Amino acid sequence: MSVRTIAIVGATGAQGGGLVRAITANPGTFAARALTRKLTSDKATALAGAGVNVVEADTDNAESLKRAFDGAYGVYCVTNYWEHFSVEREQAQARNMAVAAKAAGVQHVIWSTLEDTRKWVPLDDARMPTLQGKYKVPHFDSKGEADQIFRDAGVPTTCLLTSFYWDNFIFFGLGPKRGPDGVLAITLPMGDARLPGIAAEDIGRCAYGVFGRPDLIGKTVGIAGEHLTGSEMAAGLTRALGQEVRYNAVPPEVYRSFGFPGADDLGNMFQFKRDFNDYYCGARSLAFSRSLNPQLLTFDAWLAEHKHQIPVD
Ligand SMILES: NC(=O)c1ccc[n+]([C@@H]2O[C@H](COP(=O)([O-])OP(=O)(O)OC[C@H]3O[C@@H](n4cnc5c(N)ncnc54)[C@H](OP(=O)(O)O)[C@@H]3O)[C@@H](O)[C@H]2O)c1
Repeated sequence: MSVRTIAIVGATGAQGGGLVRAITANPGTFAARALTRKLTSDKATALAGAGVNVVEADTDNAESLKRAFDGAYGVYCVTNYWEHFSVEREQAQARNMAVAAKAAGVQHVIWSTLEDTRKWVPLDDARMPTLQGKYKVPHFDSKGEADQIFRDAGVPTTCLLTSFYWDNFIFFGLGPKRGPDGVLAITLPMGDARLPGIAAEDIGRCAYGVFGRPDLIGKTVGIAGEHLTGSEMAAGLTRALGQEVRYNAVPPEVYRSFGFPGADDLGNMFQFKRDFNDYYCGARSLAFSRSLNPQLLTFDAWLAEHKHQIPVD
């Protein structure tokens, strides 16, 4: 069979970048076509320098996507909610990708999604505040609601439920912070519940596995590297950093009040994961994730690779 092209939205980012690297590490089956808004950015020029085909496209512009998807067998679709904090814009981008994939006759789309938490926590459920008038966890609900956009467009889609990136301990400000007692702690409103986590790089490697599984078209599948409690993650960080890291379990309402942009959204998100923990972990089978991606990292293995990047003052 000839090499099939996978067009990758977010190729300069965490999820899409992992997929580009998974494809280039396994030549012969797929070829990566990396999409970026800016061909001259450092990340885009690095990809081109590594021999990857890089093309310009913007998910706000459907015509640019149609050109970028033309002739592709598969498309990886991801949005970056945190760049604009707008459900409407994220869903318009999903619609543009779905419509373009349909127009290009793409045979397998992966939509990087998350749960519409309102199926578990209706808006009148007072356990957590309603945000932006009609969401409980805007960056989740937005993606989950957009699953239907891909179905309505009639594109052959696998909905891929991703998990908390352990890389958030490096890049998203969630790493260990020193408390008044001088001891490092990670703060999460998860109680004793388990948090499915994953090395961001493994999302792309799992997506590579999904593209090799056309039987997963029309299905929703979830991935994670491990399901760990806050205490277990703190113990892993303690071993890796060589100094004590504690787990500071706070109530979700305290987390929501932290004041950083998106604190209310993330507070609700962690509460959803805590309150519906059996469902949430069950939707992200470790054995299934490993079947897609035999290189799947455990938290300890991820820490061994990345502990030096975790900012600790
Ligand atoms: N952090 C977590 O724990 C976590 C867990 C699960 C899901 N997520 C979700 O992951 C998503 C972000 O994915 P990521 O972490 O892979 O992103 P990322 O590393 O922050 O990079 C963003 C990527 O999106 C591309 N992009 C953004 N806007 C675009 C547009 N209008 N047109 C074309 N490309 C665009 C950027 O490409 P250029 O700049 O090169 O154009 C870049 O490649 C978020 O929606 C978030 O909710 C995050």
